[in-house]
Amino acid sequence: MEMGSQICVRNVTHFYTNRYTRETVLALKDVSFEVDQGEFVCIIGPSGCGKSTLLYLIAGLMKPTMGEIRVDDRPVTGPGPDRGMVFQEFAILPWRTVWRNISHGLEIQGVPREKRDEIVRRYIQLIGLEGFENKYPYELSGGMKQRVALARTLACNPKVVLMDEPFAALDVQTRITLRNELLKLSLQLSNTILFVTHSVDEAALLGDRVIVMTKRPGQVKEIVQNPIPRRERNERTLEDPAFIRYRNHLFQSVRAEVQTAEYEELVQRS
Ligand SMILES: Nc1ncnc2c1ncn2[C@@H]1O[C@H](COP(=O)(O)OP(=O)(O)OP(=O)(O)O)[C@@H](O)[C@H]1O
Ligand SMILES: [Mg+2]
Repeated sequence: MEMGSQICVRNVTHFYTNRYTRETVLALKDVSFEVDQGEFVCIIGPSGCGKSTLLYLIAGLMKPTMGEIRVDDRPVTGPGPDRGMVFQEFAILPWRTVWRNISHGLEIQGVPREKRDEIVRRYIQLIGLEGFENKYPYELSGGMKQRVALARTLACNPKVVLMDEPFAALDVQTRITLRNELLKLSLQLSNTILFVTHSVDEAALLGDRVIVMTKRPGQVKEIVQNPIPRRERNERTLEDPAFIRYRNHLFQSVRAEVQTAEYEELVQRS
């Protein structure tokens, strides 16, 4: 393992086995990659190629059938506070206010009240929800709820943040707003971020690198470096010729996988 790499996925293969029929599904096949400390890496690939599976394995919610996952040079054996996860569905507690949702993880960790309040205040400000501290989730829009979910995870300051399509349930406009907010916010974060998305645009703009996966069984098809450094990326980047080439490359790469998947399904059916 190279110095500085924080997540190391080495030759990971994962099968799911149906408990009753004993049928197996090969979800991931020989996946290897490394993510450096503080890096923002996006993962894209066709539906069902094993992206969520990969995040669950890194989170330690499941054990890979074969291969090894290390975080900070230690093998992952289960979930831990060094890894925080943000899911597609809003994962916030409906009976707690915005403030108390964000402070929840810190309460569990036993962070003293004063320190906790200071951290929560900072994240409320970072996600732009000042004035909504005492609102309950049902009083918030989808975008606001997802901001709270993000702040809730970040407040515990995990070394690694795992995000599984965190913006997928939002309307297009809100999704673009949150994407841009996350890009800005990421400049102030030192956490390592692994972000799964269906959206090539999201991946291209947010990721310092993008991992493109093949159709199932998911393998790493290629890993592409963003030509624009994160601190220089913003809305205007979308018109930068180098960025457009990069984005189009990613788009073609994923599309080729989706098309072979659809073609094979057609052949199998006929
Ligand atoms: N609990 C499970 N039991 C059996 N098979 C599963 C289970 N979870 C996922 N799979 C299968 O594993 C494969 C990968 O699933 P996964 O959810 O990781 O894909 P994904 O890339 O996240 O897809 P999407 O983009 O649609 O979210 C799929 O073929 C899926 O049917
Ligand atoms: Mg998924």
